Amino acid sequence: MTENATAGFGHGKVILLGEHAVVYGQPAIAAGMQVGVRAHASAGAGSVRAPAWQLDLQLGDDSPVATAIDRLCQRLGVAGRSLDFWLEAEVPSRAGLGSSAAMAVAIARAVAARTGAGEDDVLAAAAAAEAVFHETPSGIDAAVASRGGVGRFDRDTGWQAIPLNRPIELCVGLSGQTRQTSDLVSGVARLCQRVPVARRLIDTLGDLARAGMDALASGDSEALGHGFNMAHGLLSGLGVSTPELDALVRAARTAGALGAKLTGAGGGGAVIALAPDRAEEVLKRWRSMGCYGFLTLVGK
Ligand code: MEV
Repeated sequence: MTENATAGFGHGKVILLGEHAVVYGQPAIAAGMQVGVRAHASAGAGSVRAPAWQLDLQLGDDSPVATAIDRLCQRLGVAGRSLDFWLEAEVPSRAGLGSSAAMAVAIARAVAARTGAGEDDVLAAAAAAEAVFHETPSGIDAAVASRGGVGRFDRDTGWQAIPLNRPIELCVGLSGQTRQTSDLVSGVARLCQRVPVARRLIDTLGDLARAGMDALASGDSEALGHGFNMAHGLLSGLGVSTPELDALVRAARTAGALGAKLTGAGGGGAVIALAPDRAEEVLKRWRSMGCYGFLTLVGK
């Protein structure tokens, strides 16, 4: 990295409750992880490198990542091709952990550090990039990537931080299956069109997110765990789980988790489990299935 490099960070995320329903105006609860993406921008010619993702591209090619970064830079009034970007990625890509939003926020911050643009511009630029990947994003991924902590998000009011009495430890398990958020979101939209009762599942997912806020406020882990379990069932009903995600969720519950569910768009990606006192057992069981898991402390 050259001396004039500027840097920015975006958090990786987990959605606790309300994924997919948030696209339809329902509330969701999300948390930023300590890990994410750090971007470095320096004067250059439009190269983008992220060794952890085996990503090495040139702005101007027709890949979605190049298009997204070009749009983001345009939104911040900068020619992307006048900069080089180096990304240190601590979250896997396309795994339901908000890698694309973390990347967009990190790059937007690294660019904003050169132009003096404020956080509102950063968020708008990240949203423009997210629209390339996800077509109709609710905005939750960009909000949590920029804000971190635990928060409630809906399309009308945006992000509202939820203060916690103490942080919550979550187990995150990776299925190893990659997927495209936009495919999952359009699959749910098609289902809702063909089978109108599916909309009731969406509304109930919103109710579970509302109940989850009460559980967080009162520190009721058991209620939150039940919420995770019910949400996983409804998300399966919407067709976004997979046999691998179901197996990870079952294994976590067998290991003593109070609740477990897929997190993010589904179709592969990751699950989360709430397992106070049983977290090591959950990780061990996932390992015995050949799946990688880790702990994340949210709301710190
Ligand atoms: C993806 O992290 C969350 C979804 O609800 C899509 C979105 O909100 O844009 C599946």
